[in-house]
Amino acid sequence: MFKRDVIRIAREAGAAIMRVKQEHSLQVSTKADESPVTQADLAAHHVIVDALRKLATTYPVISEECCDISWSQRKNWHRYWLVDPLDGTQEFIKGNDEFSVNIALIEQGVPILGVVYAPALDDLYYGERDVGAELNGQSITAVTRVPETLRVMISRSHPSEETLTWLEQLTVPYETIAVGSALKLCWIAAGKADLYPRLGPTSEWDIAAGQAVLLSAGGVVNKINGEPLRYNQKESFLNPSFIAKTRAYVI
Ligand code: IPD
Ligand code: CA
Ligand code: CA
Ligand code: CA
Repeated sequence: MFKRDVIRIAREAGAAIMRVKQEHSLQVSTKADESPVTQADLAAHHVIVDALRKLATTYPVISEECCDISWSQRKNWHRYWLVDPLDGTQEFIKGNDEFSVNIALIEQGVPILGVVYAPALDDLYYGERDVGAELNGQSITAVTRVPETLRVMISRSHPSEETLTWLEQLTVPYETIAVGSALKLCWIAAGKADLYPRLGPTSEWDIAAGQAVLLSAGGVVNKINGEPLRYNQKESFLNPSFIAKTRAYVI
């Protein structure tokens, strides 16, 4: 659909982030919600929003670094882009390479196309509904059998208390793998992990692109109550606690 263009745009945004990483002193500011933002977040935001607006002139773009878009504006949109220009700002600031550029195309509330690009690792995940998922151009599939020890992704910077409590209730053997950004979802899509529970507040742009990759690889992403995680429902807009997993693991 837009494959070649969104991959190009994600790579351009990644290059803008890497220029900041390599050439400039980092300027870290604090947003109203007390989260950090750097000139790399804003540079990637401008690259992506300008390019997406040229690519599909009638599709709205929601980016983390843009204005607040109210639920009433968004609920009737047929298609729109949902973007996290730099997912994993804290990792970026710490000099950890697990940050990504996330771009998703939402149709009727469903992420139907997504790219997650980790520029410092040069890993690019792409997924498209009815087409499939790939890592750096090679097809990937979420695993289809339950392993003896579940490999559980958790947030590197701040796993929530609710998530850790949920994990304590698991009755099967498991190990945790801490990674930043939407790579958590992509690693399940690539067969490197089995499960990613995320309870408590998060933001839709953290999830949508990785969700598109994982769904296209044959995985599952649901709200924590088992219902599909959609992007045209007010409750998920506010607090989309979710669980991402392979089909083999039944909750
Ligand atoms: C953050 C990352 C992180 C998650 C935080 C998010 P940002 O996004 O996705 O993994 O744990 O809740 O805010 O702000 O670095 O794009
Ligand atoms: Ca942020
Ligand atoms: Ca994010
Ligand atoms: Ca971000």
